[in-house]
Amino acid sequence: MSRFSESQDPLFQALNSSISFDFRLAPYDLEQSIAHARMLARSGIITGDDLEAIERGLEEVRAEVEGDRFEILPADEDVHMAIERRLTEIVGEPGARLHTARSRNDQVATDVAMLVRAHSLQAKDLLARLMGTIVELAERHLDWPMPGYTHLQRAQPVYLSHHLMAYFWKFRRDLQRFNFCLNATEDLPLGAGALAGVNYDTSRMFVAQELGFGGISENSIDAVSNRDFVLDYLSAAATCATHMSQLGAEIVTWSSEEFGFCEVADRFASGSSLMPQKKNPDAAELLRAKAPRVAGRLATLHGVLHGLPLTYNKDLQEDKEQLFDAVDTVELCLSVAIEMLAGIAFNRSRLAAAAADELPAATDVADLLVRRGVPFRTAHGTVAGLVRAALEQGKQLSELTEAELAELAPKLRDDSAAAEGAFQAFYEVLKKDSWLESKVSSGGTSLPRVRDQLAVARHLLEDLSDRT
Ligand code: ARG
Repeated sequence: MSRFSESQDPLFQALNSSISFDFRLAPYDLEQSIAHARMLARSGIITGDDLEAIERGLEEVRAEVEGDRFEILPADEDVHMAIERRLTEIVGEPGARLHTARSRNDQVATDVAMLVRAHSLQAKDLLARLMGTIVELAERHLDWPMPGYTHLQRAQPVYLSHHLMAYFWKFRRDLQRFNFCLNATEDLPLGAGALAGVNYDTSRMFVAQELGFGGISENSIDAVSNRDFVLDYLSAAATCATHMSQLGAEIVTWSSEEFGFCEVADRFASGSSLMPQKKNPDAAELLRAKAPRVAGRLATLHGVLHGLPLTYNKDLQEDKEQLFDAVDTVELCLSVAIEMLAGIAFNRSRLAAAAADELPAATDVADLLVRRGVPFRTAHGTVAGLVRAALEQGKQLSELTEAELAELAPKLRDDSAAAEGAFQAFYEVLKKDSWLESKVSSGGTSLPRVRDQLAVARHLLEDLSDRT
């Protein structure tokens, strides 16, 4: 029997049906249904025989799903109805008892929370591997000088290890964000019913334990309307994708002939159909391009949720395609980033040549003046004058003569002002490496500080692998 006097319009069905995308919830839906059925039996709501039939039937459905043999029928509106329909075909009446004390509203919220949990763990795993790859790369390129940039202008030299490790910390924060997603899925929605609770004194804690939830949602209205954990996942995923995009963009730039800092392995590059000489860093380019897609998923779900009245609204069905696409995109990009980075080759001499430009040592010259008692702001201006004089004559800073220095920056004169070598400290500062090793503050680029950083990073990675 049905409440309706006519069947659904195919156009409505096309809009309303979610089975084409929500079938991937099947493994979670099956697990959930087994836990729910066990609870029903323990609470005396169904018999032991019913439970046995339901468990046997659900295992059979699981085998069909895993073997790609599950047949979806046109009337199957979503994964929940499809599984229940098939279960009832297999075991008969007990199958029809499974939905006692449950609504699709708490059911779908539970499935999605389970999926978010599983994929947050997966993302954490991939991030830990990516972080490990970065540490190894940094250790292999520990003392390779390169220019550090601001505004994509050479600013101050740094070690390649230090530059690479910047990404380690970005990805570590991403990992923490996925940890937060795990917290956000701690409370079991199931048992909230359609919105108000169910007519049985169900044992929700039992179901929570069976399914690995930490507790139960305290408010049934909140439980069926809550999609915060999807927003949290999308937000973590969007930030993570943005970090991969920045990494990808840098590799694209560095692979250019103009920079020549690195070359990606052939297996992560493509050629041109027209120009035989070309090797394109496509993988890095696509890492760069995927980020806005993930951020778009987040923005879309905010759009769907904003202004929604409590409790369940069909709008909520729109959470899934956003979530699934973000999951697939981020997991693929992370897997690619790990392999692509592991196979990248850096060019030591190109990096060093770019870092050998003396102008980036200007800050160190200013600091020399500061040590002589000149206020930093004044020193900054004086050194800017030196830089301009050098540029105008097409010289390096160290090629400025003592006479020029005496005129433009008399304070640079050594304290023990013997006539000869009166500007010795100035010329000393401009010797390579001394600029790098002068960055002794915690978190700076000098080798001892990078080694400290790597030790902390190694420790964090060990902690992560201990916990899994
Ligand atoms: N396919 C639906 C969704 O994804 C399941 C819940 C349907 N609930 C309902 N009251 N129609 O949201």
